[in-house]
This record gives sequence, C-alpha cells and structure tokens, in this order.
Amino acid sequence: MAENEKIGIVGSGLIGRSWAMLFASAGYHVVIYDILQDQINNALKDIHHQLKKLEADKLLRGKLNANQQFALIKGTLSLADAVKDAKLLQECIPEKLDLKKKLYTEIDKLVDDKTIISSSTSTFRPSLFSENLKHRAQVIVSHPVNPPYYVPLVEIVPSPWTRADIPEKTKEIMTEIGQAPVVFTREIDGFALNRIQYAILNEAWRLVTDGVLSVKDIDTVMSEGLGMRYAFIGAFEAAHLNAEGMKKYCETYNKSIYDVSQTFGPTPKFIGPAAENISKQLEEMCPLDKLQERRDWRDLALTKLSILKKELNDKKN
Ligand SMILES: NC(=O)c1ccc[n+]([C@@H]2O[C@H](COP(=O)([O-])OP(=O)(O)OC[C@H]3O[C@@H](n4cnc5c(N)ncnc54)[C@H](O)[C@@H]3O)[C@@H](O)[C@H]2O)c1
Ligand SMILES: *[C@@H]1O[C@H](CO)[C@@H](O)[C@H](O)[C@H]1NC(C)=O
Ligand SMILES: *[C@@H]1O[C@H](CO)[C@@H](O)[C@H](O)[C@H]1NC(C)=O
Repeated sequence: MAENEKIGIVGSGLIGRSWAMLFASAGYHVVIYDILQDQINNALKDIHHQLKKLEADKLLRGKLNANQQFALIKGTLSLADAVKDAKLLQECIPEKLDLKKKLYTEIDKLVDDKTIISSSTSTFRPSLFSENLKHRAQVIVSHPVNPPYYVPLVEIVPSPWTRADIPEKTKEIMTEIGQAPVVFTREIDGFALNRIQYAILNEAWRLVTDGVLSVKDIDTVMSEGLGMRYAFIGAFEAAHLNAEGMKKYCETYNKSIYDVSQTFGPTPKFIGPAAENISKQLEEMCPLDKLQERRDWRDLALTKLSILKKELNDKKN
C-alpha cells in the first residue's frame, strides 16, 4: 500500500475523478486541483457517491473501505498544494493545446526534480506541450481509456527528452493501482489504441458507404464477432491460436491478407453525405436523447466483463 505517498490530480472532470478513485484505492493520498470551487465540490460529492455505490455492489477496488478511500482524497484551489511533494502529478484538463501549455508553464515553476508529470491527453504527443519546460525530462503521457475504473489500459508515451527512468517508474505506479500499462519506446500520433481504432473505423466506414453492410450489421460484426475474442486476447494471439502457431498462420494466410488489404479504399474524410447517412442510421439505433441510458448500459456491461476477466485471470495465474 502506498501509505503516506501523495498524488496530485489537475482537473476534476470525468477523468480526474476516475484517477483520484484509482489512486486512493491503492492507499495514496490524493489532492485534486481545479480552477473552479464548484467543480471541486461536485467532484468530491460524485466520488463519494461512486465509492459508496461500488462498495454496495461489491465492486470497490483495493483493501480499504469506501469511507477510508474517500478520506484520502482532498480538493484544492491551489496548484502549489497539488504539486508539492507529489510522487506523480496526473493532468486531466480539457483537450486544448494552448490551455495545456499554459498549465505546464505554471507547473514548471512549482515542481521539484522528482515528481513525474503525467498527462491524460488523448491526442497530443508529449513533445507538443513539454518542449520549452525546464522540467521537460519529467513529462510523460499516461493515456487512460474511459471508463478507467473498468478499462485498465494505460498508454505510457515518452517524448524524445523524457528521462530514461520515468517510463518504468510510471509503469510501476500504474501497475500498483491495478491498471494495465503499456510503455511506448517513442511518441507517435494517435498512440496505439486510437491508431488501431481508426483503422477499424476507416474500413467499417468504407463497407457502409460502398453499400456492403448497414451500420447496424457492421457493429454486429464487431460486438458479436471480433469483439468477443478481443475482450480476452489480442489480434496477434488470435492469429497464433487460429492456426498451428503464428508461423503457420503467416504461411497459410499471407497471400489472402495481402490481397484483401490491397483492396482497401482511400481514407474517408468523415464529412458530407456519408457522415449524414451513418449518423442517421446510428440515431435510429440509439436516439440522441437515449445516449446516456445507453452509456449506463455500456458501463454496466463493462463492469460485468471486468469481473469475468478478473475471475479468469485469477484462475490462469
Ligand atoms: N473523457 C474521456 O473519455 C477521456 C479518455 C481518455 C483521456 N481523456 C483526456 O483527459 C483529459 C480530461 O478530460 P475530461 O473528459 O476529464 O474533461 P472534463 O471537461 O470532464 O474536465 C476538465 C476539468 O478541468 C478543469 N480545468 C479547466 N482548466 C483548468 C486549469 N487550467 N487548471 C485546472 N483545472 C482546469 C475543468 O474545470 C474541469 O473540471 C483530456 O486531456 C482528455 O483528452 C479523456
Ligand atoms: C448509406 O447507407 C446505405 C445503407 O447502409 C448504403 O447502401 C449507401 O450506399 C450509403 N450512402 C452513402 C452516401 O454513404
Ligand atoms: C507468402 O509466403 C510465401 C512463403 O511461405 C511466399 O512465397 C509468398 O511470396 C508470400 N506471399 C506474399 C503475397 O507475400
């Protein structure tokens, strides 16, 4: 347990709240900074509610009870309070580069040489906002997946000037709080999850606009087909298991994979009549005023899946 160690969270929105709960579940003292008192109050209220609900549903992570975990979390309007003596600072402010740059300049003035400065950014390579900082060697991206309490992947992405020990230290902390980190050797646009997600989205888009399948049918291919496997094993292991090993898979399927891949069309632009068409089909499946209901269902499904995965992993180990 991370007794007497401190984590600073910057930004108390959706992602900041999740991080706070994850760190507190491992026993860290958590200080959440935001520029709005209202936002901090709402965050603390929401975190308390979520922890109590998780406890009642027997889904609370860690060894401490909900009240003990909540007692580890404090709010502040002072960035210095959040930064001081923190083992790691997790930044979770809105995805705007100028906002992030301004914040990092402020952090740069307050931070010592030890604190890991970790960003939740989904889209910015770390070099984009760290280049001119005195403490740029301590900056790294730790990109979570929503909802992080149930989807454990964290993409740890260093910039060209991130200090050599920072990625591994960040990985240790993420593992300690029960997440599943992967460490990149270098930064790349879209990191990995979004690059793969976009490859899937591009081909799905082409199949619909070419009139091969409807939006609903494409999503069935994913949720009732590929996704069933991908919840437990990745694309590589799926191939390895689908033949007598990967070597055999390559020998058997290299030609068909290559030939089919040659027929992929150009990258779609995600605008115009195709966008109208796909949006319309989706709104028939799930009207905009039902999105929240559907998100709640998704989160419930992910909760149950994460319980099943934990059960299966415990058996494997
Ligand atoms: N929402 C997701 O699904 C998701 C998933 C992965 C990563 N992320 C990334 O996490 C980050 C935060 O996203 P979110 O969805 O939690 O945003 P959000 O809008 O819910 O929360 C942002 C919070 O930051 C506060 N804030 C704004 N400016 C600030 C400043 N200068 N200093 C301190 N606090 C400030 C706001 O008051 C708000 O509480 C973004 O970089 C986003 O790309 C989001
Ligand atoms: C719209 O979707 C239908 C059915 O999925 C498809 O047949 C048609 O080609 C699409 N049109 C455009 C412009 O995307
Ligand atoms: C597939 O692999 C075989 C060897 O197993 C090779 O001869 C062939 O050129 C490969 N095909 C393609 C399309 O790369």
